Amino acid sequence: MSYQLLKGKRGIIFGALDPNSIAWKVAERCHEEGATFVLSNAPVALRMGAINQLAEKCNAQVIGADATSIPDLENLFSKSQEILGGKIDFVLHSIGMSPNVRKGKIYTDLDYEYFHKTIDISSMSLHKVMQTAMKLDAISEWGSVIALTYIAGQRVFPDYGDMADAKAMLESIARSFGYHYGKFRKVRVNTISQSPTKTTAGQGVKGFGSFYNYADKMSPLGNASAEACANYCISLFSDLTKMVTMQNLFHDGGFSYTGVSKEVMDKFED
Ligand SMILES: NC(=O)c1ccc[n+]([C@@H]2O[C@H](COP(=O)([O-])OP(=O)(O)OC[C@H]3O[C@@H](n4cnc5c(N)ncnc54)[C@H](O)[C@@H]3O)[C@@H](O)[C@H]2O)c1
Repeated sequence: MSYQLLKGKRGIIFGALDPNSIAWKVAERCHEEGATFVLSNAPVALRMGAINQLAEKCNAQVIGADATSIPDLENLFSKSQEILGGKIDFVLHSIGMSPNVRKGKIYTDLDYEYFHKTIDISSMSLHKVMQTAMKLDAISEWGSVIALTYIAGQRVFPDYGDMADAKAMLESIARSFGYHYGKFRKVRVNTISQSPTKTTAGQGVKGFGSFYNYADKMSPLGNASAEACANYCISLFSDLTKMVTMQNLFHDGGFSYTGVSKEVMDKFED
């Protein structure tokens, strides 16, 4: 159902790799809600080609940008404003990658070059996106920036590896930059802490299947889907949530505040 909550709004959506991507669902919902936007991803991801189907469906243009490259981000923000005809009202940062996790390097045997890459891609890129936007004054007053995170940034999930540290930093950057961008242009910045979701990035984590099922059994509402996450993003991009900023918002069916569920207790019965 469409409420036209984003009618007239212009956005940039990072991270739609394939139809499972959370960013893909967000783009579809933004389109339904009346927004116009540019889709962006790393050049290597664009070569896979799936994003063009999404672009066609949403009547959007695609601009490649490695989110760790300032020149790429400057080009993205400048061109997006030209294409969309004004300042940007919303940005989705849906970017994450750990070479350590990908190569199966456990937390106590990290490759530090990879660790740098994890942080640069998965956390510092959010700072780079906002600093670039601020210098170009590219985001409109009361604009909204969202980055996606996971609860392993706050509690230990051993197989999440160095992504846990990256997520902790991502959430901190959202808070710190949220202060400065709030003062500068009343731009709000939040992270959404999403349930485990069956995507390329999600399934790259060792033992993802058990992880997913455990969270589903722990959460009173079950795991939140990518589609539900997209709906939550729409609400945060809309004018209905103007005073929400610098928050880490759990979107996890209640997982984060559940000590134990009956389903999990039953598995440990004596
Ligand atoms: N899937 C889950 O279980 C889950 C749970 C909570 C949070 N998240 C977060 O959601 C976000 C989106 O992930 P997803 O699950 O949709 O998986 P995904 O694999 O579909 O998306 C990750 C995206 O990051 C992009 N990316 C990687 N390096 C990049 C770079 N240098 N520059 C620009 N883009 C780059 C990839 O191309 C891809 O589009 C990530 O931040 C992820 O950590 C995922």
